[in-house]
Amino acid sequence: MAFITTKAMFEKALKGDFAVGAFNVNNMEIIQGIAEAVAEENAPVILQVSAGARKYAKPAYLLKLVEAAMIDTGIDIALHLDHGEDFAICKQCIDDGFTSVMIDGSKHPFEENIALTKQVVEYAHSKGVVVEAELGKLAGVEDDVNVSARDATFTDPDEAVEFVERTGVDSLAIAIGTSHGAYKFKGDPYLDYERLKKIHSMLPDTPLVLHGASTVIPEFVEKCNQYGGKIPGAQGVPEDMIRTSCGLGICKVNIDTDLRLAMTAEIRRVLTENPEEFDPRKYLGPGREAIKAMVKHKIKNVLNASGQK
Ligand code: G3H
Ligand code: 13P
Ligand code: ZN
Repeated sequence: MAFITTKAMFEKALKGDFAVGAFNVNNMEIIQGIAEAVAEENAPVILQVSAGARKYAKPAYLLKLVEAAMIDTGIDIALHLDHGEDFAICKQCIDDGFTSVMIDGSKHPFEENIALTKQVVEYAHSKGVVVEAELGKLAGVEDDVNVSARDATFTDPDEAVEFVERTGVDSLAIAIGTSHGAYKFKGDPYLDYERLKKIHSMLPDTPLVLHGASTVIPEFVEKCNQYGGKIPGAQGVPEDMIRTSCGLGICKVNIDTDLRLAMTAEIRRVLTENPEEFDPRKYLGPGREAIKAMVKHKIKNVLNASGQK
């Protein structure tokens, strides 16, 4: 087992009909649940750490927890920085031992995004680390998804080609209609498959990344709400739309919200049904099992990644 980059797993995913799950991690139970699921499914995996996760769990703990998960389960892990906003945080993660970083320059104008991404690529590649960048802006649920809004924010295929050529980036996150969190669509779910197909056909060797890819399974929202939660109107990307995207060039699928919902729903259930309980192991343990079950479901039924290690 080892810290590995995403290179080999993406090459395989590009040729095959599956995608690699990139799961956000924030604490020990989440890391353990994911690692156990991945080991049992013999799947490739990316564990990703946001700036918020680094602040919450502290870098030294996260690194050691991920290392411990590899020792315990024997799996290989690609350790990735999620949404790095500047060169400094990317450099810090590279120096800490991450094997992959995302530089998210999507909020900057095209030329600035290119310059920032190039700077990170140069440093990362000199250290054997791979880089994901983002072009286009993910939709917010409040955004109108009419044609002109789409063209203004979704990834432009010609720009994507120029961006990859000029930056030398290893993978590219694109905007085709998903958004972060539990509230993804106002009306019917919509992903711009034509745009995805076009980008993939123009960049056939570039692994494409889908952020905001949680499916927000109604069962888990209802379970949260049944045990005192208030998450009305949550709506994710339907599972079949993620599966379709995986066959059209998406090689990395980012999942955070679904893990949060699964863990929280189970902890709510345990505490509601056992109001006398105050041993954290009695609710964090079931929370870890809920993470494991969710990750197994994703690998098998959504990402088609079982046995693809
Ligand atoms: O894309 C964002 C991820 O879901 C991480 O969220 O910044 O709350 O850790 P966070
Ligand atoms: P979700 O909020 O849909 O889980 O997306 C997570 C993500 O894109 C992390 O970068
Ligand atoms: Zn994201």
